Amino acid sequence: MEGPLLRPLPFWRQRSGGLTMNQTDPYHIAVMTHEVVEAFSTVSGLIVDATFGGGGHSRALLAAARDRRILAIDRDPEAASRAEGIEDPRLRFVRGNFADLESLLGGAADDDDGDGRSGGLRGVLFDLGVSSRHLDEPERGFSYHQTGPLDMRMGPDAPHTADDVVNTWSEQQLVDILRSYGEERFARRIAAGIVSARPIEDTRHLADVVASAVPAPARRKRHPARKAFQSIRIAVNGELDALRIGLEAATRLVRPGGRVAVISYHSLEDRIVKRHFASGIAGCTCPPDLPVCTCGRVAEWRSLARKPLRPTDAEVTRNPRSRSARLRVIEKLPPEAA
Ligand SMILES: C[S@@+](CC[C@H](N)C(=O)[O-])C[C@H]1O[C@@H](n2cnc3c(N)ncnc32)[C@H](O)[C@@H]1O
Repeated sequence: MEGPLLRPLPFWRQRSGGLTMNQTDPYHIAVMTHEVVEAFSTVSGLIVDATFGGGGHSRALLAAARDRRILAIDRDPEAASRAEGIEDPRLRFVRGNFADLESLLGGAADDDDGDGRSGGLRGVLFDLGVSSRHLDEPERGFSYHQTGPLDMRMGPDAPHTADDVVNTWSEQQLVDILRSYGEERFARRIAAGIVSARPIEDTRHLADVVASAVPAPARRKRHPARKAFQSIRIAVNGELDALRIGLEAATRLVRPGGRVAVISYHSLEDRIVKRHFASGIAGCTCPPDLPVCTCGRVAEWRSLARKPLRPTDAEVTRNPRSRSARLRVIEKLPPEAA
Protein backbone atom coordinates (compact mmCIF):
# COMPACT_ATOMS: atom_id res chain seq x y z
CA MET A 1 0.00 0.00 0.00
CA GLU A 2 2.96 2.23 0.49
CA GLY A 3 4.56 4.24 -2.30
CA PRO A 4 3.29 6.38 -5.10
CA LEU A 5 -0.43 6.37 -5.78
CA LEU A 6 -1.56 4.12 -8.54
CA ARG A 7 -3.97 5.53 -11.06
CA PRO A 8 -6.81 2.99 -11.23
CA LEU A 9 -10.07 3.47 -13.11
CA PRO A 10 -11.91 6.58 -11.98
CA PHE A 11 -13.95 5.61 -8.93
CA TRP A 12 -17.32 6.34 -10.54
CA ARG A 13 -16.67 3.47 -12.97
CA GLN A 14 -15.88 1.00 -10.23
CA ARG A 15 -18.00 -0.96 -7.81
CA SER A 16 -18.10 0.12 -4.18
CA GLY A 17 -16.83 -2.35 -1.57
CA GLY A 18 -19.98 -1.81 0.49
CA LEU A 19 -18.56 0.38 3.21
CA THR A 20 -20.57 1.10 6.30
CA MET A 21 -20.01 3.28 9.32
CA ASN A 22 -18.15 1.35 11.97
CA GLN A 23 -18.61 2.75 15.45
CA THR A 24 -17.48 -0.29 17.41
CA ASP A 25 -14.06 -0.96 15.96
CA PRO A 26 -11.74 -1.92 18.83
CA TYR A 27 -8.79 -0.36 16.95
CA HIS A 28 -10.24 3.11 17.37
CA ILE A 29 -13.75 4.52 17.72
CA ALA A 30 -13.98 7.45 15.33
CA VAL A 31 -14.94 10.69 17.05
CA MET A 32 -17.78 13.05 15.95
CA THR A 33 -18.36 10.96 12.83
CA HIS A 34 -21.78 12.41 12.06
CA GLU A 35 -20.46 15.95 12.42
CA VAL A 36 -17.52 15.12 10.13
CA VAL A 37 -19.86 13.69 7.49
CA GLU A 38 -21.98 16.83 7.79
CA ALA A 39 -18.89 19.04 7.50
CA PHE A 40 -18.15 17.54 4.07
CA SER A 41 -21.78 17.23 2.95
CA THR A 42 -21.26 19.68 0.07
CA VAL A 43 -17.99 18.09 -1.03
CA SER A 44 -17.61 15.57 -3.83
CA GLY A 45 -14.40 14.48 -5.54
CA LEU A 46 -11.10 14.10 -3.73
CA ILE A 47 -10.91 14.36 0.05
CA VAL A 48 -7.69 13.76 1.96
CA ASP A 49 -8.12 11.97 5.28
CA ALA A 50 -4.78 13.11 6.71
CA THR A 51 -5.06 10.93 9.84
CA PHE A 52 -6.51 7.61 8.69
CA GLY A 53 -5.97 5.64 11.96
CA GLY A 54 -8.52 2.82 11.95
CA GLY A 55 -10.31 4.37 8.98
CA GLY A 56 -13.61 5.19 10.73
CA HIS A 57 -13.92 8.65 9.19
CA SER A 58 -12.81 7.49 5.74
CA ARG A 59 -15.42 4.73 5.79
CA ALA A 60 -18.16 7.11 6.89
CA LEU A 61 -17.25 9.71 4.25
CA LEU A 62 -17.25 7.10 1.50
CA ALA A 63 -20.50 5.56 2.72
CA ALA A 64 -22.18 8.99 2.73
CA ALA A 65 -21.64 9.79 -0.99
CA ARG A 66 -20.75 7.79 -4.08
CA ASP A 67 -19.05 10.61 -5.95
CA ARG A 68 -16.06 10.83 -3.64
CA ARG A 69 -12.64 9.34 -3.46
CA ILE A 70 -10.28 9.44 -0.52
CA LEU A 71 -6.55 9.69 -0.29
CA ALA A 72 -5.82 8.41 3.21
CA ILE A 73 -2.58 9.32 4.98
CA ASP A 74 -1.10 8.06 8.25
CA ARG A 75 2.46 7.94 9.49
CA ASP A 76 1.78 4.70 11.39
CA PRO A 77 2.54 1.39 9.60
CA GLU A 78 -0.28 -0.27 11.58
CA ALA A 79 -2.76 2.12 9.98
CA ALA A 80 -1.38 1.03 6.61
CA SER A 81 -2.35 -2.56 7.32
CA ARG A 82 -5.81 -1.42 8.43
CA ALA A 83 -6.27 0.31 5.10
CA GLU A 84 -5.51 -2.93 3.29
CA GLY A 85 -8.70 -4.36 4.84
CA ILE A 86 -10.91 -1.79 3.11
CA GLU A 87 -12.04 -3.09 -0.23
CA ASP A 88 -13.24 0.07 -1.87
CA PRO A 89 -11.44 1.24 -5.00
CA ARG A 90 -12.28 4.83 -4.11
CA LEU A 91 -9.77 4.65 -1.23
CA ARG A 92 -6.01 4.91 -1.63
CA PHE A 93 -3.64 4.86 1.33
CA VAL A 94 -0.19 6.38 1.48
CA ARG A 95 1.99 6.18 4.54
CA GLY A 96 3.66 9.41 5.55
CA ASN A 97 3.53 12.55 7.62
CA PHE A 98 0.77 15.00 6.72
CA ALA A 99 3.41 17.72 6.98
CA ASP A 100 4.38 16.39 3.51
CA LEU A 101 0.81 16.68 2.25
CA GLU A 102 1.71 18.26 -1.07
CA SER A 103 4.18 15.55 -2.09
CA LEU A 104 1.98 12.73 -0.71
CA LEU A 105 -0.88 14.08 -2.80
CA GLY A 106 1.22 13.47 -5.92
CA GLY A 107 -0.98 13.51 -9.01
CA ALA A 108 -4.14 12.44 -7.13
CA ALA A 109 -5.69 15.89 -7.41
CA ASP A 110 -5.18 15.96 -11.20
CA ASP A 111 -7.66 13.15 -11.88
CA ASP A 112 -10.93 14.09 -13.50
CA ASP A 113 -13.81 13.50 -11.10
CA GLY A 114 -16.29 13.01 -13.88
CA ASP A 115 -18.35 16.12 -13.28
CA GLY A 116 -16.96 18.01 -16.25
CA ARG A 117 -14.44 19.87 -14.11
CA SER A 118 -10.83 18.99 -13.50
CA GLY A 119 -10.53 17.25 -10.15
CA GLY A 120 -8.55 19.21 -7.63
CA LEU A 121 -8.47 18.76 -3.90
CA ARG A 122 -11.92 19.36 -2.42
CA GLY A 123 -11.47 18.60 1.26
CA VAL A 124 -8.98 17.74 3.98
CA LEU A 125 -9.75 16.19 7.35
CA PHE A 126 -7.31 16.15 10.28
CA ASP A 127 -8.28 14.11 13.37
CA LEU A 128 -5.25 14.88 15.48
CA GLY A 129 -3.22 13.02 18.05
CA VAL A 130 -2.96 9.32 18.72
CA SER A 131 -5.44 6.52 18.10
CA SER A 132 -6.84 4.30 20.85
CA ARG A 133 -4.67 1.59 19.36
CA HIS A 134 -1.56 3.58 20.30
CA LEU A 135 -2.80 4.07 23.86
CA ASP A 136 -3.99 0.50 24.35
CA GLU A 137 -0.91 -1.31 23.05
CA PRO A 138 1.72 -1.15 25.80
CA GLU A 139 4.53 -1.98 23.38
CA ARG A 140 3.99 1.34 21.55
CA GLY A 141 5.04 3.12 24.76
CA PHE A 142 2.26 5.74 24.95
CA SER A 143 0.46 4.44 28.05
CA TYR A 144 1.15 5.62 31.58
CA HIS A 145 -1.10 2.84 32.88
CA GLN A 146 0.96 -0.04 31.51
CA THR A 147 4.57 -1.21 31.23
CA GLY A 148 6.11 -0.74 27.82
CA PRO A 149 9.26 0.49 26.10
CA LEU A 150 10.00 4.22 26.04
CA ASP A 151 9.05 4.59 22.39
CA MET A 152 5.98 6.81 21.65
CA ARG A 153 6.76 7.12 17.93
CA MET A 154 3.65 7.27 15.76
CA GLY A 155 5.76 6.08 12.86
CA PRO A 156 9.36 5.42 11.87
CA ASP A 157 9.71 9.00 10.54
CA ALA A 158 9.54 10.45 14.08
CA PRO A 159 12.69 12.40 14.85
CA HIS A 160 13.23 10.89 18.36
CA THR A 161 12.10 8.13 20.71
CA ALA A 162 10.80 8.74 24.22
CA ASP A 163 13.97 7.04 25.46
CA ASP A 164 16.11 9.73 23.75
CA VAL A 165 14.04 12.49 25.35
CA VAL A 166 13.78 11.00 28.83
CA ASN A 167 17.30 9.63 29.18
CA THR A 168 19.45 12.05 27.18
CA TRP A 169 17.86 15.51 27.00
CA SER A 170 19.06 18.17 29.42
CA GLU A 171 17.01 19.10 32.46
CA GLN A 172 16.28 22.50 30.90
CA GLN A 173 15.07 20.91 27.65
CA LEU A 174 12.73 18.74 29.71
CA VAL A 175 11.42 21.78 31.61
CA ASP A 176 10.81 23.54 28.28
CA ILE A 177 8.79 20.71 26.71
CA LEU A 178 6.83 20.04 29.90
CA ARG A 179 5.85 23.71 29.97
CA SER A 180 5.21 24.32 26.30
CA TYR A 181 3.70 20.99 25.28
CA GLY A 182 1.99 20.01 28.55
CA GLU A 183 1.35 23.35 30.27
CA GLU A 184 2.64 21.38 33.29
CA ARG A 185 2.72 23.40 36.55
CA PHE A 186 5.34 21.17 38.12
CA ALA A 187 7.71 21.14 35.14
CA ARG A 188 10.84 21.90 37.20
CA ARG A 189 10.18 19.25 39.82
CA ILE A 190 9.33 16.61 37.22
CA ALA A 191 12.39 17.38 35.07
CA ALA A 192 14.66 17.19 38.14
CA GLY A 193 13.00 13.90 39.16
CA ILE A 194 13.54 12.41 35.70
CA VAL A 195 17.20 13.44 35.53
CA SER A 196 18.01 12.04 38.98
CA ALA A 197 16.20 8.73 38.28
CA ARG A 198 18.15 8.00 35.05
CA PRO A 199 18.35 5.55 33.45
CA ILE A 200 14.56 5.31 33.24
CA GLU A 201 13.71 1.81 32.05
CA ASP A 202 10.13 1.85 30.76
CA THR A 203 6.79 3.67 30.75
CA ARG A 204 5.76 2.37 34.19
CA HIS A 205 9.05 3.57 35.66
CA LEU A 206 8.57 7.00 34.01
CA ALA A 207 4.98 7.29 35.29
CA ASP A 208 6.16 6.44 38.84
CA VAL A 209 9.01 8.96 38.69
CA VAL A 210 6.61 11.71 37.55
CA ALA A 211 4.01 10.77 40.18
CA SER A 212 6.54 10.94 42.99
CA ALA A 213 7.85 14.32 41.75
CA VAL A 214 4.50 16.14 42.03
CA PRO A 215 2.97 17.23 45.34
CA ALA A 216 0.43 14.82 46.89
CA PRO A 217 -2.70 16.94 46.19
CA ALA A 218 -1.86 16.98 42.46
CA ARG A 219 -1.95 13.17 42.45
CA ARG A 220 -5.58 13.00 43.46
CA LYS A 221 -7.43 14.35 40.41
CA ARG A 222 -6.30 13.03 37.05
CA HIS A 223 -3.26 10.81 36.50
CA PRO A 224 -0.20 12.89 37.52
CA ALA A 225 1.81 11.68 34.51
CA ARG A 226 -0.84 12.65 31.94
CA LYS A 227 0.65 15.98 30.92
CA ALA A 228 4.26 14.74 31.04
CA PHE A 229 3.40 11.86 28.70
CA GLN A 230 1.57 14.30 26.38
CA SER A 231 4.61 16.62 26.31
CA ILE A 232 7.08 13.84 25.56
CA ARG A 233 4.82 12.40 22.86
CA ILE A 234 4.49 15.79 21.16
CA ALA A 235 8.28 16.28 21.26
CA VAL A 236 9.00 12.75 20.00
CA ASN A 237 6.71 13.17 16.99
CA GLY A 238 7.22 16.87 16.25
CA GLU A 239 3.42 17.10 16.36
CA LEU A 240 2.88 20.84 16.52
CA ASP A 241 5.29 21.67 13.70
CA ALA A 242 3.64 18.99 11.56
CA LEU A 243 0.24 20.53 12.31
CA ARG A 244 1.34 24.05 11.31
CA ILE A 245 2.90 22.82 8.07
CA GLY A 246 0.04 20.44 7.25
CA LEU A 247 -2.61 23.11 7.84
CA GLU A 248 -0.76 25.61 5.68
CA ALA A 249 -0.57 23.08 2.83
CA ALA A 250 -4.22 22.01 3.20
CA THR A 251 -5.58 25.55 3.13
CA ARG A 252 -3.38 26.47 0.18
CA LEU A 253 -4.17 23.37 -1.89
CA VAL A 254 -7.94 23.02 -1.40
CA ARG A 255 -9.86 24.51 -4.30
CA PRO A 256 -12.61 27.14 -3.87
CA GLY A 257 -15.76 25.66 -2.39
CA GLY A 258 -13.64 23.00 -0.67
CA ARG A 259 -13.50 22.48 3.08
CA VAL A 260 -10.91 21.83 5.75
CA ALA A 261 -11.98 20.24 9.04
CA VAL A 262 -9.84 19.64 12.10
CA ILE A 263 -10.62 17.71 15.28
CA SER A 264 -8.23 18.67 18.06
CA TYR A 265 -7.97 17.23 21.56
CA HIS A 266 -6.07 19.80 23.62
CA SER A 267 -5.73 23.55 23.77
CA LEU A 268 -2.26 23.69 22.17
CA GLU A 269 -3.54 22.05 19.00
CA ASP A 270 -6.78 23.99 19.01
CA ARG A 271 -4.97 27.33 19.40
CA ILE A 272 -2.87 26.63 16.30
CA VAL A 273 -5.97 25.66 14.30
CA LYS A 274 -8.00 28.62 15.52
CA ARG A 275 -5.25 31.14 14.68
CA HIS A 276 -4.56 29.66 11.28
CA PHE A 277 -8.25 29.62 10.37
CA ALA A 278 -8.78 33.15 11.74
CA SER A 279 -6.02 34.53 9.51
CA GLY A 280 -7.75 33.16 6.39
CA ILE A 281 -11.19 34.32 7.48
CA ALA A 282 -10.14 37.87 8.35
CA GLY A 283 -10.88 40.31 5.55
CA CYS A 284 -10.05 44.02 5.48
CA THR A 285 -8.47 45.17 8.73
CA CYS A 286 -8.64 48.93 8.00
CA PRO A 287 -10.25 51.14 10.66
CA PRO A 288 -14.03 51.39 9.98
CA ASP A 289 -13.88 55.19 9.47
CA LEU A 290 -11.43 54.86 6.55
CA PRO A 291 -13.43 55.54 3.33
CA VAL A 292 -11.30 53.22 1.15
CA CYS A 293 -9.51 50.03 2.03
CA THR A 294 -5.77 50.50 2.15
CA CYS A 295 -4.72 47.17 3.71
CA GLY A 296 -5.72 45.17 0.62
CA ARG A 297 -6.64 42.10 2.74
CA VAL A 298 -9.53 39.97 1.54
CA ALA A 299 -11.21 37.06 3.27
CA GLU A 300 -10.26 33.78 1.59
CA TRP A 301 -12.30 31.50 3.84
CA ARG A 302 -15.52 31.45 5.77
CA SER A 303 -16.08 29.63 9.02
CA LEU A 304 -19.04 27.28 9.20
CA ALA A 305 -19.59 27.87 12.90
CA ARG A 306 -18.51 30.67 15.19
CA LYS A 307 -17.55 28.23 17.93
CA PRO A 308 -15.97 24.78 17.57
CA LEU A 309 -18.38 21.85 17.62
CA ARG A 310 -18.19 19.51 20.61
CA PRO A 311 -19.28 15.86 20.91
CA THR A 312 -22.77 15.28 22.27
CA ASP A 313 -23.21 14.01 25.84
CA ALA A 314 -24.38 10.70 24.38
CA GLU A 315 -21.15 10.35 22.41
CA VAL A 316 -19.00 11.17 25.45
CA THR A 317 -20.88 8.51 27.44
CA ARG A 318 -20.39 5.98 24.66
CA ASN A 319 -16.77 6.94 24.03
CA PRO A 320 -15.17 8.85 26.93
CA ARG A 321 -12.04 9.49 24.81
CA SER A 322 -14.10 11.90 22.71
CA ARG A 323 -14.56 14.18 25.75
CA SER A 324 -12.01 16.83 24.83
CA ALA A 325 -12.66 16.84 21.04
CA ARG A 326 -13.31 20.14 19.22
CA LEU A 327 -14.18 20.27 15.54
CA ARG A 328 -13.50 23.40 13.46
CA VAL A 329 -14.51 23.63 9.80
CA ILE A 330 -13.83 26.30 7.17
CA GLU A 331 -14.78 26.66 3.50
CA LYS A 332 -12.67 28.31 0.80
CA LEU A 333 -14.46 31.18 -0.92
CA PRO A 334 -14.58 31.48 -4.70
CA PRO A 335 -12.03 33.99 -6.05
CA GLU A 336 -14.71 36.54 -6.96
CA ALA A 337 -15.93 36.60 -3.35
CA ALA A 338 -12.41 36.79 -1.99
C1 LIG B 1 -7.10 10.17 16.37
S1 LIG B 1 -6.32 9.06 15.28
C2 LIG B 1 -7.33 9.15 13.85
C3 LIG B 1 -8.46 8.20 13.88
C4 LIG B 1 -9.24 8.13 12.58
N1 LIG B 1 -9.85 9.38 12.24
C5 LIG B 1 -10.26 7.02 12.60
O1 LIG B 1 -11.42 7.28 12.24
O2 LIG B 1 -9.91 5.88 12.97
C6 LIG B 1 -4.93 9.97 14.75
C7 LIG B 1 -4.09 9.24 13.70
O3 LIG B 1 -3.32 10.24 13.07
C8 LIG B 1 -2.03 9.75 12.85
N2 LIG B 1 -1.16 10.93 12.81
C9 LIG B 1 -0.92 11.82 13.79
N3 LIG B 1 -0.09 12.79 13.36
C10 LIG B 1 0.16 12.51 12.06
C11 LIG B 1 0.96 13.14 11.06
N4 LIG B 1 1.66 14.26 11.32
N5 LIG B 1 0.99 12.61 9.82
C12 LIG B 1 0.27 11.47 9.54
N6 LIG B 1 -0.46 10.81 10.45
C13 LIG B 1 -0.52 11.33 11.70
C14 LIG B 1 -1.75 8.82 14.01
O4 LIG B 1 -0.78 7.85 13.66
C15 LIG B 1 -3.12 8.21 14.26
O5 LIG B 1 -3.28 6.99 13.57
